[in-house]
Amino acid sequence: MGFFTKDIKTMNDLFMHGLQDLYYAENKIAKSLPDMIEKATNPQLRAGFEKHLKETEGQVQRLQRLFELLDADPKGEKCPAIDGILKEGSELMGEVDDEDVMNVGLIAAAQAVEHYEITRYGALIAWASELGRRDCIPLLRASLAEEKATDEKLTALAERRVNPEGEKKSGSGRKAPKRAASTARRKRKSQARPAKAKRSGAKKARRRA
Ligand SMILES: [Fe+2]
Ligand SMILES: [Fe+2]
Repeated sequence: MGFFTKDIKTMNDLFMHGLQDLYYAENKIAKSLPDMIEKATNPQLRAGFEKHLKETEGQVQRLQRLFELLDADPKGEKCPAIDGILKEGSELMGEVDDEDVMNVGLIAAAQAVEHYEITRYGALIAWASELGRRDCIPLLRASLAEEKATDEKLTALAERRVNPEGEKKSGSGRKAPKRAASTARRKRKSQARPAKAKRSGAKKARRRA
């Protein structure tokens, strides 16, 4: 069922549909992650997927608790969006032979999933708040935090380019000067700010005088 069907008339319907949609998605993701773990050759990526599989199983349980809070049976509603994202990911995995390219592709596929989940949890939190269901919010927030942390870890891995060559290069300090430079830039900026404030304060004082 799509998001805008005649079956959804009220905010309560929309909230319940969103939960069912996410329940379907989290269950599908839990089934897909073992394949991704198998294909990942980078140890950190593999460990990250293994950790997120456990988290995803916990997220399914959180959704079950949410259905309980709402006196509803846990039920999944087919979600074409996550089906498409996962299908594209598994097609990609079937096409790539090179291990490093596979790892990079897996990161991108996993981030597409995380971004989808982040938008859905974000919407559900807003709707729960609008409906006065504050009791639902901590459970939704806990899962959202895990999705965001996973996304950030994937970004960090992508930036290291995953392959061992990339790690060697960054380990040998190739990336360090860039970080040091940006830290120095931030420091300069923060030092510059009070000076600017002082200048504008002095200007005002002159104007007053
Ligand atoms: Fe999830
Ligand atoms: Fe996730």
